[in-house]
Amino acid sequence: MPQETRLILKYADEPGYAPDIECYLRHGGYEALKKALGIAPKTLPNGKTVTGPEQLRDEVTKSGLRGRGGAGFSCGLKWSFVDRKSGKPIYLICNADESEPGTFKDKQILHKDPHQMLEGMIIACYANDVHLAYIYIRGEFTEGARILNRALQEARAQNFLGKNILGSEYELQIHVHRGAGAYICGEETGLIESLEGKRAYPRIKPPYFPAVLGLYMCPTIVNNVETLCAVKHIAAMGAAEYAKLGTPNNTGTRIVSISGHVKRPGYYEVEVGKVTIGELINDPVFGGGLRDGRKLKAVIPGGSSAKVFKAGEKFKLKRRGPDGKEVEKELEMLELPYDFDSLIAAGSMSGSGGIIVMDDSTDVVEALANISEFYAHESCGQCTPCREGSLWMAKALHRLTHGQGRKVDADYLIKIADNIPGGRTICAFGEACAWPVQSFVAKFKDEFAARGQADEERKQPQVESAAPKPKLQEQMLAKAH
Ligand SMILES: Cc1cc2nc3c(=O)[nH]c(=O)nc-3n(C[C@H](O)[C@H](O)[C@H](O)COP(=O)(O)O)c2cc1C
Ligand code: SF4
Repeated sequence: MPQETRLILKYADEPGYAPDIECYLRHGGYEALKKALGIAPKTLPNGKTVTGPEQLRDEVTKSGLRGRGGAGFSCGLKWSFVDRKSGKPIYLICNADESEPGTFKDKQILHKDPHQMLEGMIIACYANDVHLAYIYIRGEFTEGARILNRALQEARAQNFLGKNILGSEYELQIHVHRGAGAYICGEETGLIESLEGKRAYPRIKPPYFPAVLGLYMCPTIVNNVETLCAVKHIAAMGAAEYAKLGTPNNTGTRIVSISGHVKRPGYYEVEVGKVTIGELINDPVFGGGLRDGRKLKAVIPGGSSAKVFKAGEKFKLKRRGPDGKEVEKELEMLELPYDFDSLIAAGSMSGSGGIIVMDDSTDVVEALANISEFYAHESCGQCTPCREGSLWMAKALHRLTHGQGRKVDADYLIKIADNIPGGRTICAFGEACAWPVQSFVAKFKDEFAARGQADEERKQPQVESAAPKPKLQEQMLAKAH
């Protein structure tokens, strides 16, 4: 029987559990920080000394933790890229912008257990020799910002922040910065620009990799809220225990937001890869199945920018058999394990962990029009393919959903979408706006084509004027006189 494995959300929904520090301390809060600060330097057989922070970084790498913000990049590897020799300060930013449609997990953590995120953040800062860090929180999360500011005050009062934290020599300040209310503020380099007080225009990489040239042109780590919570648990339980959760290369737990046409929309924490998409949608402990009498039509598996899956789609995936050998196995979409690698192998991604379920009552043309309107609105406009392409796609979809479609619109949409991704844009927003169009139109081509054809047939034939039109030359002559 599939079930939730609550590590990060262990206490969040317990009756009486409050976001204040007393409650957090009563539930073992800040013990992981004490443990992390207490790690003594270790001398290796080769005579090299490894500091406490270095050991912590090593643990995070060994744990296999992959970022929960969208790209699923190795957290330990990201930390290893940080330029530690520049002599400049190193900054850490918690990305709490959470604006990918279909994703609503970070908000739960911020509202219900802010100290858990702070503890993970302080440990991550200690591990990376950071003394000034920021929480960049989505502008609309006014309540979240209030809760976080109070949590910071409480943490300062108890010396979990500030100078000589818990009697150590370590000093750290954290500030909350409220976002500018745009989706692009969640992209790490756009976020950094916004934090510097500018418009959130993403920076080009190279050279502006945050690990080298980030905030104020200093080495910077940007991590998602949930990723930083996982760091706290890795410090508490050790990399080996953490890696027992989940599946190889897809370790730990992750919080999945399920929305759309299910009976029990909500957020669920599961071991990565231990449950399938079908279980997440249909099992009574998760989505609880579709509304009565309805059939599944499509699933977006990782937030609105992930490529859509069509019900019944099949994929050939490489799986490891009981003898350890890799075998190719055909899996139906609902049988796909919900992990980073399986979803990429199936041509989509688990992204920010937002599953959007669509039953057979869904008009996919309307659904895509809705998504594309969002991306056209949110493009920052720096790159022509993204700025123009997202708008043209939204316009074509607006036509198709307002009785003005054309037979050629399906091909036209694909043509535009195919010309946005693939290194033609500064940031991954280009992919984010093109992938839904590419996948929806390819997988539901009949519906898009039929809509355009029906609109064309419905249009009134042009009524010719009874009087013959004057020739262009005659018109010009008439004007000249
Ligand atoms: C257009 C766009 C929007 C993004 N929005 C968010 C967001 O709201 N929250 C987030 O954590 N990451 C977001 N990301 C990913 C970040 O750029 C970055 O990869 C992430 O914060 C790194 O954290 P992680 O390694 O812990 O996942 C976005 C990326 C793109 C391209
Ligand atoms: S891809 Fe789009 S959002 Fe990203 S920098 Fe270019 S125009 Fe802006």
